[in-house]
Amino acid sequence: MITDITAAKDAALAHIDAATTVDEIVALTTRYAGKKGELAGLKKQLGGLDTIEEKKAAGAAVNDAMNAIDAALDERRSALKSAALVTQVEGERLDLTEFFAPPTRGHAHLVTQAWERLEDVFVGLGFTVAEGPEIETDWHNFEALNMPIGHPARGEWDTLFVDHVPPGGEPGTTVLRTHTSPVQIRTMLAEEPPIYIVAPGRVFRRDTPDATHMPVFHQIEGLVIDRNITMADLAGTIDAFTKAYFGPGFNSRLRPSYFPFTEPSAEFDIQRPDGSWIELGGSGMVHPNVLRACNLDPDEWSGFAFGFGIDRMAKERHGVGDLRDMYADDKRFVEQF
Ligand code: PHE
Repeated sequence: MITDITAAKDAALAHIDAATTVDEIVALTTRYAGKKGELAGLKKQLGGLDTIEEKKAAGAAVNDAMNAIDAALDERRSALKSAALVTQVEGERLDLTEFFAPPTRGHAHLVTQAWERLEDVFVGLGFTVAEGPEIETDWHNFEALNMPIGHPARGEWDTLFVDHVPPGGEPGTTVLRTHTSPVQIRTMLAEEPPIYIVAPGRVFRRDTPDATHMPVFHQIEGLVIDRNITMADLAGTIDAFTKAYFGPGFNSRLRPSYFPFTEPSAEFDIQRPDGSWIELGGSGMVHPNVLRACNLDPDEWSGFAFGFGIDRMAKERHGVGDLRDMYADDKRFVEQF
């Protein structure tokens, strides 16, 4: 009997020791420690033993064996449970090592870079930066710029209208600004001269995208209002800007032109060191009617304004063949600049 008990105990302990999962421990508990387990079976046979001494000895052996098995089951169960927990935690651990890989930093878009450098250059020349809304009134975008309703020059700016009627206003008088020139008007209305501002921003025209046109693009506007400002100040400012922005090997020129809001008006061009010319933008002396619309006396104040496209300038500067590439969101393009 004692031999059977010892054999059963040794077998049980060996099995428990070899168990590798909590499920196996559950099965072994039933098999050895349960009410219908092997040791319980042996205990039932105690009654069949001949002497009290034998019963005592065998009963003590069964109890020892059961205690040893219980202890072994407990120990193994908790060991396997904590091992399982470790495995689970390992499995659920977030892999943060990608953050130790060399970071690939993005950078500003080509047009944003140009916009920011332009601001820097003009701030260096003594200008401050002004802003205005992208949704404008007809009055700020055209009328105050010496283009009353029906003025033929309005056709030069293919206008997108916004379906919004301002309180007390007329239908069809809210537009997406077609140029940054309405910021001239807003600045003159809000500030006393002298005024030296540049106004970069997004502008909108009803255009089909092609290599040189986008319906949404960017301009930068310059406005100077002071006493005794002449066309020489305009030419000098454009030239100082040209050399500061493009480099000392570049020159500029003004060519007679027409804008309703400047008189006289001029296109301005930039000459590359190789002698070739790039058309950049429009400029001129602020028209007396524009000053009057902003409650400024043309006999006291004079000034000049200029405006040009940022996108097109970046395109020229970096030799981009097609404006649409700038907005195609293709990393292979964007990463080149
Ligand atoms: N607003 C003009 C345009 O969009 C450019 C310009 C600005 C011309 C200021 C003269 C003076 O074409």
